[in-house]
Amino acid sequence: MKQILRSIALSSCVLSISLLSLQSCKKEDKPQSTEQKVDSLMHQGGAQAGDTSKAAASSAMTLNDKAKKGQMLFYNASLGKIKASCAMCHSDGTERTKDGRIRSGHTLVGVSSRTETWNGMFKGDKLKSTAYGASFCVAGFQERPTGLSADEAESLNEYYAAIASNPGAMTNNLSIKWVTKPVFSDDEDLDAKAVTPAVKAIMKLPGDPGKGQAVFQGTCITCHEIEKKKIGPSMKDAAQDMNYVAQSIRCGSKAMPFFAKDILSDQQIADAIAYIQSSLNK
Ligand code: HEC
Ligand code: HEC
Repeated sequence: MKQILRSIALSSCVLSISLLSLQSCKKEDKPQSTEQKVDSLMHQGGAQAGDTSKAAASSAMTLNDKAKKGQMLFYNASLGKIKASCAMCHSDGTERTKDGRIRSGHTLVGVSSRTETWNGMFKGDKLKSTAYGASFCVAGFQERPTGLSADEAESLNEYYAAIASNPGAMTNNLSIKWVTKPVFSDDEDLDAKAVTPAVKAIMKLPGDPGKGQAVFQGTCITCHEIEKKKIGPSMKDAAQDMNYVAQSIRCGSKAMPFFAKDILSDQQIADAIAYIQSSLNK
């Protein structure tokens, strides 16, 4: 896995094709590009309350065929083993994704004006070939080891262009306030020197379960429930050790995305933990 991710970082297509499969650079089938298809993808992909609005945000945008294909990729929760779509973690600035949820990833509105992404991991001609670093998400968070095909990356780039003037654009290079680079596999370790103080800073704060319920409903509920397995494990199974919960939220854990400090504050995480704890003790 380590190797695969590295090869994606180096060259999205050529290396992964030789390492993995002949499919990764193959031309895709002809795009099916209708609003309906996007709606049904959103449905399969675990559309959330606010997402089901019939508002056809995309009708305000002009989408060529390529961009429509990119839009479908954006809402597709079946790209890899983990059934999370880009839309669950990123906004595209449409009514569909402006639903009051707090997403782990930043908005993709304006992303094509950035000159580097993922803290400099992707720049120069790697930007276009990886759809500005989306390949890394596909391989790591969605668990599709081949990342994006060249055609898919192009389609996403075209979608980024189509959404570029949607509200909420972020056009500066992000310096992701991650605590440490996330690890996507069992044979890598998070940098304990960075993780320990980050966890302590959260755990020393008294949490408010009431406020934490709102945080949980705005973020975690996309993928987790307290009692039942969803895209991720139930909190009953995953939240044995609250230090580990804090660590997983702040630093990620394989397919579990990290939440940077500008997205969830230490206090919000402490509140979410207080809520999880009180729900488990009921
Ligand atoms: C499970 C959550 C998750 C999924 C699914 C996901 N991403 Fe990400 N993505 C993140 C996180 C977390 C980051 C790092 C923080 C940031 O840059 O926003 C990130 C970073 C990115 C970046 C780089 C942004 C930057 O400035 O560094 C792009 C582009 C991106 N994702 C696109 C995509 C696309 C397109 C998809 C779907 C094909 C996708 N992501 C799927 C969570 C996710
Ligand atoms: C977009 C989906 C997504 C969101 C949002 C999300 N998680 Fe997760 N989470 C996952 C997945 C998938 C896993 C399983 C990770 C793995 O084992 O690869 C996971 C795992 C975990 C784990 C166990 C970590 C481990 O290593 O086994 C904890 C604890 C956790 N999540 C807590 C939370 C909390 C609390 C929130 C809200 C702040 C949250 N998650 C938000 C997808 C998500």
